[in-house]
Amino acid sequence: MNEEQRKQGQLVESANPSDKKSEKDYSKYFQSVYIPPSLKEAKKRGKEEVKYHNDFDIPIEFKGLGEGKKFYIRTYGCQMNEHDTEVMAGIFMALGYEATNTTEDADVILLNTCAIRENAENKVFGEIGHLVHLKRENPELLIGICGCMSQEESVVNRILKKHRHVDIIFGTHNIHRLPNILKDAYMSKEMVVEVWSKEGDVIENLPKVRRGNIKAWVNIMYGCDKFCTYCIVPYTRGKERSRRPEEIIQEVRQLAAQGYQEITLLGQNVNAYGKDLEDIDYGLGQLMDDLRSIDIPRVRFTTSHPRDFDDHLIEVLAKKGNLVEHIHLPVQSGSTDVLKIMARKYTREQFLELVRKIKAAIPDVSLSTDIIVGYPNETDEQFEETLSLYREVGFEAAYTFIYSPREGTPAAKMKDNVPMSVKKERLQRLNALVNEFSAEAMKKYVGQVVEVLAEGESKNNPDILAGYTRKNKLVNFKAPKTVIGKLVKVKITEAKSWSLNGEMVEAGPIGAEFQEAEEVK
Ligand code: SAH
Ligand code: SF4
Ligand code: F3S
Repeated sequence: MNEEQRKQGQLVESANPSDKKSEKDYSKYFQSVYIPPSLKEAKKRGKEEVKYHNDFDIPIEFKGLGEGKKFYIRTYGCQMNEHDTEVMAGIFMALGYEATNTTEDADVILLNTCAIRENAENKVFGEIGHLVHLKRENPELLIGICGCMSQEESVVNRILKKHRHVDIIFGTHNIHRLPNILKDAYMSKEMVVEVWSKEGDVIENLPKVRRGNIKAWVNIMYGCDKFCTYCIVPYTRGKERSRRPEEIIQEVRQLAAQGYQEITLLGQNVNAYGKDLEDIDYGLGQLMDDLRSIDIPRVRFTTSHPRDFDDHLIEVLAKKGNLVEHIHLPVQSGSTDVLKIMARKYTREQFLELVRKIKAAIPDVSLSTDIIVGYPNETDEQFEETLSLYREVGFEAAYTFIYSPREGTPAAKMKDNVPMSVKKERLQRLNALVNEFSAEAMKKYVGQVVEVLAEGESKNNPDILAGYTRKNKLVNFKAPKTVIGKLVKVKITEAKSWSLNGEMVEAGPIGAEFQEAEEVK
């Protein structure tokens, strides 16, 4: 490890404290040789140019590392993490490992973690605790923690002190180093900690094993520079880095050729796509326009930030075709004052104006959102403004959360006068409204014929199929299993709060003459 890496909090550290050492000695030992990931470092945004690599290869010395061994990855958090898991699975397979879907069977277990709220972290710590017995039964088992929690120094320190059965900790920026990290773990049988606090370059040709062959995730950018005051993501995922458009287009073309029916473009703030590409003037609008001409039935994106949602993108989305008429547009709060302290950089009025423009261009658009209740010092009036904005927009779905302080973020330092009981009550009231609006939107489908992408058997009844409409409504419907993976026309017979029931009337996509049918009257 050189001095530069130390400064960046970027290191590979193997330590071998004797098991006989007391916990205190152990942490002292680590403090002398171990530099934890640093949220302070992660906050910095440098001017360095992002380098793009296409030369990922598994060096010969790692080939066969996984022969006869099985891996298991449990994923927490957002789609970004799910996609990272697909990349890690690709690397495992390239190393000769086999996948397994039980922890009991595995030789390596990875927990790909999420740091977004305290309860997400608690779940992971609970699971780390459960894994102790497997490690006792099989000391050869490797247990690894990766993903967003690994980027937090408090988490790494807690694992070092309290969960010594963990063998590996690595972060979100060095997934491509998984072969080296595994090898280190086998060679030394010591805890291997490799967390880079600073983002790395963009590596294009990492192997991937996608879950399923109907829908696929496609990263378009990494990181986030928005620094909303409550949010840990800009610290755990580094600065915004866009992939080159030609790489994205090529990946989507390949997916289309392989028969995928739907892709979702991924980024924490996809509306900032392209802003960091200095040699070209190219944004999400252009990208969506280019993807329109690819023969893949559905293209979605997530997540949008209202601030950078521009007119060109609206214009392109209005052309429809394979661009679906559903937009997830997190608002977080309906109060301009709360939005200001959240550093969302738009007002209630600006958000409503954006919605007005979107609806004018795409009259049958379906909007969903994310909302945080109980932000520090949120007043009853401010919360009421969130309810009234929800009604005014007419969102059809929402993910709702109680604010959770995240160490290292500005909001975590704020004094908060809102008792938890009040926050819970607000969440309940908001959820009642969200359910009411969803049920209302669902009701209007009864009797209509909609296009559904048949994804597989329904969760609760294997005799019927399940899939989603273009507007992301879950439909359970009667149809032969042979249509799994295909677009079909389904007549809706019954509406529930969060799903629809129906019967297939015909195979094949809905053409222009049918598209009106999904228009909610
Ligand atoms: N990049 C996405 C959000 C990713 S996190 C965006 O900006 O839209 C998903 C959601 O988690 C956020 O929209 C927000 O509603 C919620 N969230 C983030 N940090 C949170 C916190 N500290 N407490 C509660 N909810 C939080
Ligand atoms: Fe977090 Fe805001 Fe970035 Fe979304 S835009 S990931 S909420 S900082
Ligand atoms: Fe969680 Fe990291 Fe995603 S904190 S929400 S897994 S970017």
